[in-house]
Amino acid sequence: MAKASANFTCTGCGAVHRKWSGRCDACGAWNSIVEEAPLSTGPAGKSLGGAKGRRIDLTTLAHEEAPPPRTLSGMAEFDRVLGGGLVPASAILVGGDPGIGKSTLLLQAVAAFARKGLKCLYISGEEASAQVRMRALRLGLADAPVSLGAETNLRDILTTLEAERPDLVVIDSIQTMWADMVEAAPGSVSQVRAAAHELVSFAKSRGVSVILVGHVTKEGQIAGPRVVEHMVDTVLYFEGERGHQFRILRAVKNRFGPASEIGVFEMTGGGLAEVANPSALFLSERGQPAPGSAVFAGIEGTRPVLTEIQALVAPSSLASPRRTVVGLDSGRVSTILAVLESRCGIPFAGLDVFLNVAGGLKVLEPAADLALAAALLSAREDVALPADLVIFGEISLSAALRPVGQAENRLKEAEKLGFSQAILPVGTKLEGGAGMALRKLPDLVTFVGDMFGAG
Ligand code: TYD
Ligand code: MG
Repeated sequence: MAKASANFTCTGCGAVHRKWSGRCDACGAWNSIVEEAPLSTGPAGKSLGGAKGRRIDLTTLAHEEAPPPRTLSGMAEFDRVLGGGLVPASAILVGGDPGIGKSTLLLQAVAAFARKGLKCLYISGEEASAQVRMRALRLGLADAPVSLGAETNLRDILTTLEAERPDLVVIDSIQTMWADMVEAAPGSVSQVRAAAHELVSFAKSRGVSVILVGHVTKEGQIAGPRVVEHMVDTVLYFEGERGHQFRILRAVKNRFGPASEIGVFEMTGGGLAEVANPSALFLSERGQPAPGSAVFAGIEGTRPVLTEIQALVAPSSLASPRRTVVGLDSGRVSTILAVLESRCGIPFAGLDVFLNVAGGLKVLEPAADLALAAALLSAREDVALPADLVIFGEISLSAALRPVGQAENRLKEAEKLGFSQAILPVGTKLEGGAGMALRKLPDLVTFVGDMFGAG
């Protein structure tokens, strides 16, 4: 009979070792390995130990329950990212870099929900109550009926929640929470995991919605909200460039709505202001048509968003020239550079390439390929594209242009913003006649010939 052996787990990185040692091989931390009791496997040592379980109730797929009653905060951008309002007993993680504005956003959101009649609690583990009250005053939220607590002890927080039974609680942040049953420093993976697990279980069993704030470092480690992602229903990331006033709340996972939905906010002295028309905002800094700029008609979640892709191409003094990419997938950029070189005969060797999406939005759709190529070519040839032109389409490795979804929505948005011509892939299906001059092209070689007279 094999005796189940104990596991030794590193409290820093979660790696499992067969025996104790002073230093974790996986993360290099000292004195971080603790013994964990093995899972009980019953007397026979077989899985489940032969004991019988209860037979579970099975149902059909047919729809029986009414959809969950959702509460709207009235902050339309926030509600949209949640998938159309807050679902009761849901667990939400809001991640983002320190200082990006998470506490501000959630204080505004919790106040909005409280004003809609939800019983709301805001627990800060990072700031003293006085600090949060000062922020609330600055944001004009001092009169919102939110109960405020400053605490990091998870046991005390759970006891309070049990007594208060709120509809919604915000925990700012999960890294500061400290569960006394786990012997590890606050912010370590085991603490974060334990605290998140306790809070999410509480949310599910008591019908309380919980929003967890999580810090992400640039490397995406240490802070460790990644381990929390699979425990919660919804994962939102709050992103933006420091020094830019735009902030984007992006749903990367949502059990109650479409993922990849975005909400756009603008930072102001009085807090985050909603941006109802992001395209107009992202294009607002566009001046006269300049070489290296192309307007991409994109889709973010369920709505069209126009963005300006900017490229700069300059002779390089480096043996391996620079490829600096902000807001686009750098793997995609390399692929398109390779396609331009080998299929269109336009070399980028010996040239530094800089690419950027104006306004700080991340554009990850393959539909951006053609606009990206257009910006690169326009910069390289020093020829400006027409100011009223939008572009979209995916580029295949053979340089063919592939149609992309929701072409109509993209064109409609462009038309609304005053664009009058579009370049798109030849197979694009359009139901109605667009009110714009459309140029449908089969491949990148034709595009280069058309736009730049090379080919
Ligand atoms: P904060 O919400 O504390 O960021 P986080 O919780 O993500 O660390 O915001 C950081 C700072 O920015 C804070 O000093 C307040 C300021 N700020 C504004 O002045 N206006 C705004 O609209 C936002 C979002 C932040
Ligand atoms: Mg904060």
